[in-house]
Amino acid sequence: MKCGGKILFSSLKGGVGKSTSACLVATALAEDGYNTVIVDLDFRSRSLDLILGVSDKVLFTFDDYLLERCSADAVLIPVTGYAKQKRTHGEGKLLLCPAPSETAFEAAGEDAYDRIPEALLRLCEESGADYVVCDTGADSRIPLVVGNGFAELAIVVSEQSKTAIRAAETTAARLADCAKVREVRLLINNFNINAARHGGRAGILDMIDGCSVRCIGVIPEDRGMPERQDAGLLPHKASPVIPASRNIARRIQGIETPLFTGMKKERRRTVL
Ligand SMILES: Nc1ncnc2c1ncn2[C@@H]1O[C@H](COP(=O)(O)OP(=O)(O)O)[C@@H](O)[C@H]1O
Ligand SMILES: [Mg+2]
Repeated sequence: MKCGGKILFSSLKGGVGKSTSACLVATALAEDGYNTVIVDLDFRSRSLDLILGVSDKVLFTFDDYLLERCSADAVLIPVTGYAKQKRTHGEGKLLLCPAPSETAFEAAGEDAYDRIPEALLRLCEESGADYVVCDTGADSRIPLVVGNGFAELAIVVSEQSKTAIRAAETTAARLADCAKVREVRLLINNFNINAARHGGRAGILDMIDGCSVRCIGVIPEDRGMPERQDAGLLPHKASPVIPASRNIARRIQGIETPLFTGMKKERRRTVL
């Protein structure tokens, strides 16, 4: 397991792109050659099996693994369809641990929430993953449990809106107090340069300056994304979200990567 390889994606605000950016970054880590497990811990609004195009392969879910009703091999689904459109020649595997419904998870017992970290640690060991990426929902219970018992790096996702930035700052402050969290970083998602330049919305640099949480990267808006996600497909190969998520994956690996590496249009159009 990589040092700092236990990663949490979080925000107290819904719809800001936690699941999308978690999938993009996990894919980029796998494509860099790291074995990566992505765990869907948003039981209320589980989505990763659909986004990653493996919903027809779900037999077991995270609660089964927690209750030791199945092995790591049985619960983890190889994400082959998604990774097929490889951008590099990394050999890393991407594996998904799918989520149960909230009702099913609650049926796992009173202490099921408290046992999430122990199950995640076991999953790390049994899967031999280099990185484990946890996607969480907009309520605070699971992110705090994961931050207190598992995640070393918390990535707080925000959009351009002031309400999302405020939610990100609140989320970051709560996660910074968690026992295992060593670093909290801001990921700006769904960024629209035109809205920033002509629409009076916050620009990238305004956002980086105006938020107390250090930025780990910016993923631009890709209008084709919802449609492709519905089809369980990776973004189009020319989509700017691809270099953007690759840059974030590199920064997670500790590789210094300038903000707009591989993103010519964004670099050119952002007034520095
Ligand atoms: N960078 C992006 N460009 C365009 N659409 C995006 C982007 N990121 C997320 N979306 C869309 O926004 C919606 C919410 O994203 P999602 O990842 O489900 O948010 P969350 O997990 O925070 O609730 C989805 O329809 C998704 O396709
Ligand atoms: Mg989500």
